[in-house]
Amino acid sequence: MTAGSGDVTMYDCWLGYRRAGPEAVVAGSGDVLSRVAVSGASAVLRTALAELVRGLSALTGRVPAVVPEQTAGPLVLIAAPRSAAGAHALTTMTRTRGPADGEDEVIVMTALARPGQVVLTSNTEAGCLHAVFAFLRRLQAGQAPAGLHVADGTASRLRMVSHWDNLDGTIERGYAGASIFFKDGQVTQDLHRVRDYARLLASVGVNAVCVNNVNVTAEAARLLTAAHLPRLARLAGIFRDHGIRLFLSVSFDSPMILSGIRAADPLDPQVRDWWRSQAGQVYAHIPDLGGFQVKADSESRPGPSVYGRSQADGANVIADALRPFGGVVLWRAFVYDCWQDWRDRSTDRARACYDTFMPLDGAFGENVIVQAKLGPMDFQVREPPSPLLTALRLTSAAIEVQITQEYTGQQKDLCFLHPQWHEVMNGRAVVDGDVTTLAHVVSGHKTGRPNGGVTGVVNVGDDPSWTGHVLAQANLYAFGRLAWDPGIDPGTVAAEWVTATFGAAEPVASTVTRMLLDSWRVYESYTAPLGVGWMVTPGTHYGPSVDGYEYSRWGTYHFADREGIGVDRTAATGTGFTAQYEPGQARMYEDIGSCPDELLLFFHHVPYRHRLKSGKTVIQHIYDSHFDGAEDARRMLRDWLSLAGHLDPVRFEQVRSRLELQVANAKEWRDVVNSYFFRKSGIGDELGRKIF
Ligand code: GCU
Repeated sequence: MTAGSGDVTMYDCWLGYRRAGPEAVVAGSGDVLSRVAVSGASAVLRTALAELVRGLSALTGRVPAVVPEQTAGPLVLIAAPRSAAGAHALTTMTRTRGPADGEDEVIVMTALARPGQVVLTSNTEAGCLHAVFAFLRRLQAGQAPAGLHVADGTASRLRMVSHWDNLDGTIERGYAGASIFFKDGQVTQDLHRVRDYARLLASVGVNAVCVNNVNVTAEAARLLTAAHLPRLARLAGIFRDHGIRLFLSVSFDSPMILSGIRAADPLDPQVRDWWRSQAGQVYAHIPDLGGFQVKADSESRPGPSVYGRSQADGANVIADALRPFGGVVLWRAFVYDCWQDWRDRSTDRARACYDTFMPLDGAFGENVIVQAKLGPMDFQVREPPSPLLTALRLTSAAIEVQITQEYTGQQKDLCFLHPQWHEVMNGRAVVDGDVTTLAHVVSGHKTGRPNGGVTGVVNVGDDPSWTGHVLAQANLYAFGRLAWDPGIDPGTVAAEWVTATFGAAEPVASTVTRMLLDSWRVYESYTAPLGVGWMVTPGTHYGPSVDGYEYSRWGTYHFADREGIGVDRTAATGTGFTAQYEPGQARMYEDIGSCPDELLLFFHHVPYRHRLKSGKTVIQHIYDSHFDGAEDARRMLRDWLSLAGHLDPVRFEQVRSRLELQVANAKEWRDVVNSYFFRKSGIGDELGRKIF
């Protein structure tokens, strides 16, 4: 791999294939890794073979010979889904592990189906590519090919990264340079970088990419026209070769922007016909387009409410147009009143998503996926799960997380987000009396509408490291692994990423893994703990401004006064948001005695001297967490500095400079927040530390 600019090690991310780990594996593998074959000839299988050759060459130091598939003797065979070897391996594995209940894609790596050989296969062609990457990952982690006998499945049909890239090359909430897809109003011609990106995504099982911002300008609406479609088709082709489908964000007003139609009323036959014919044009260029993503009636974007129509009416007119081509509509549920008055305590932004969409459960077309953010507000460092995601019964749903660190440090501060996503996705859900997890419900198998999945607003730009902070690459990696398997442990994933990125040698491996795993809690502690959220600088969303949004129109208030802080969202005395959860969860959040400390201020307004379950008062927790968090940020910098000489200088320096910014940011948060609450409450720090 070559870096477009800058440093190769940063650019390679986790696909640098370091040799140190597998030396023993290679030594003990006989000739198995020296010959490869593929049964089948599609583009994705060709990619799989090329990746296998590339990975094995790097890991073993020898380029494997590509031999015919019938070759006897040791080799690694990529077996197409319906090939004899593939079918045999899949059946053998299914017999061993039982039927893959509800799984969309299963990958198999087995040394048993053809003794002396390793067979990599799947029930899908993209899965064969995923199996190759999974195989290389295992080799790298030191697992011998001889003992391999693994089947791994995913229930998430959609595993999508979403770019908020604009046609002028800027990226909304992007912290890693300019767009890799658009420049000066055009789709890029730099397909080299796009190809390298497709590899990164495929290597972690991502199977869909939406390339443009959900906030679709009139200029971007033209992506649906012949002005841009030929170049978009080239992007789609590259992604197709990697088992990834292209999606586009579209404006609800497209019929008005792109034709003479005067209104975008979804029930108007003229509008319906326009969507149909436009979809036909798009699919003529990109026959396997995944579909459209739509942000409608949200933050001043146009939508069906303008015409007195429902969200389902809006989604269905577009879904109907895509159905003949097998496309889906990702309809964002981020619909709320962004013209609030802080004095109005009855309007609660947290309620909006459920209040709008739940009454429409059952009204959406088969190929509509309602896409809701992980929490009921907006990608804060801590939020409870969105109640809509577990409540919908008749509608396919996707959970949307934010990989780009808008509210979580903007790739200046280290914040490994997998632990947060994992906690929410594995949170309790109850369906028809059965206790399960949110991820299981979202995957659709409880509802029989298995179009569901996981989407993430991605953190990638044209920075030499892709993500602006080398350690933020771990968030992209973890997203793919979590989208594939919501149950996978963040500790496992962090260690995997560190090994693939930096190697398994100490002290680097354990130090960096620990830094990643601590970082979410640390970031939370010096910013806005106890679920209170926001307190960020308006507009940029980096750095503290306790009252920055307190009197604004956005509905993001903490209601701190001289007596206390927090939002009363109880059914008894507050906004009633707690009642949107199933009864068990509703009771837990409603009762101040059982509401978890880390979400207390999300659900309750309490006096500063209220005692947490930890035994501390709320005000003391605010002081302690900010002092500790700032100290922890310094400790992370020290830990990193202790690795000097163990890492290549480019990555070492890049991360060092970022951690220095983080130390300064944490200190600023500490001082601004502590002074604010000391002055507001008049209560001092029990430990008498310096508060300005
Ligand atoms: C956040 C973010 C916006 C974005 C919006 C969305 O509010 O600040 O930039 O457009 O989310 O998810 O649509």
